[in-house]
Amino acid sequence: MTDLHLACVVGARPNFMKMAPLLRALEAYSHVHPILIHTGQHYDENLSDIFFDELGMKRPDVSLDVGSGKHGVQTAKVLKRFEALLEQGTPGEGNRYDRVVVVGDVNSTMAATLAAVKLGVPVAHVEAGLRSFDRSMPEEINRMVTDSICDMLLVSEPAGLENLRREGHPDDRLHLVGNVMIDTLRRLLPKAKARDTLNDYDLNPGRYGVITLHRPANVDAPETLARLLDVLVEVSRELRLVFPLHPRTKQRIERFGLAERLDAAKGILQLGPLGYLDFLALTSQAKVIITDSGGLQEESTALGIPCLTARPNTERPITVTEGTSTLVDGDPTKLRHNLRAVLDGTYKQGRCPALWDGRAAERIAPLLAGVAGQEQITTG
Ligand code: UD1
Repeated sequence: MTDLHLACVVGARPNFMKMAPLLRALEAYSHVHPILIHTGQHYDENLSDIFFDELGMKRPDVSLDVGSGKHGVQTAKVLKRFEALLEQGTPGEGNRYDRVVVVGDVNSTMAATLAAVKLGVPVAHVEAGLRSFDRSMPEEINRMVTDSICDMLLVSEPAGLENLRREGHPDDRLHLVGNVMIDTLRRLLPKAKARDTLNDYDLNPGRYGVITLHRPANVDAPETLARLLDVLVEVSRELRLVFPLHPRTKQRIERFGLAERLDAAKGILQLGPLGYLDFLALTSQAKVIITDSGGLQEESTALGIPCLTARPNTERPITVTEGTSTLVDGDPTKLRHNLRAVLDGTYKQGRCPALWDGRAAERIAPLLAGVAGQEQITTG
């Protein structure tokens, strides 16, 4: 078979667990040569480096070192540096890239796609078609732009197919393949649970909640963040809470003078960003998860753990209709009400969506390798 050179792009924390299973599944195809490119959108040890070891993923072949910055600056740096990289060809050999593979919805995803398509390099988007219909979310813009110019759209849930069809994408570009993030979760769950994480933090299974908050809509306005923290402080009197703080959230808490209020809550254990395995050890044995993360809504659904999603909408509706998630926005009343149900054992039971079976990457790999027969192309 003709050799295929793929530029596989990662940039921020949620990208790593999506790319890892793909690289693994592509090993079955000797004519496929994936080059791993890290844009450097996330660069801290605990937001980036630790994941390569824990996920058993090769170190990036190329790093673009774009770092943090305003959206325009960060996006522009990826565009400029990724364009140059594509023009140079593969490291050492200078082969032309046959395809770019992007995952998720971060700034790096959109910028790499734009650079590639303008150079005539086709792009496959893993996690295509998700829409919150909320254009104030930076990720929604990234999703819309990316999907509008990709030629291979790899979809994790049926709503994604509907959205893409409505936007006019022809069926032969759409593939309902399932959820690669859950591939990683299923592979590493036993290893995560075998760790001493709970002992290390003096926690008992099913007797604590996990909190994550980092969306600009929740953490960038002082009143909103203060209101959310107040509810968490209240909840922590009844249920121990573990709160691994995203750097953005930590900065905002300090800047808005809210640190003292949080520190005073003895039932809240504040931590820094955790590695994949420790975090999965915590979430998989929690009583409840309170989050505004997209990925965690999906992971909690796969784990069957109640998830109170601190957002007014979601681009992942199956986590609400089939899974364990409820949208509580930043509304203290909804949060309290649902939390009560969790503690009383009356909260809804979810089920794991079809194709979130740990084999999504195996369905994607033949498509990327150009060897998929019609029977492998699922358009749901
Ligand atoms: C990004 C993604 C978001 C994803 C999240 C996961 C976009 C638009 N947003 O948001 O979709 O859910 O990653 O974490 O792409 N910082 C560090 N160390 C780092 C990286 C960032 O301290 O390694 C700090 C910087 O001060 C930076 C801030 O975190 O300004 C925000 O980082 P950024 O990459 O801009 O966005 P996230 O909020 O992490």
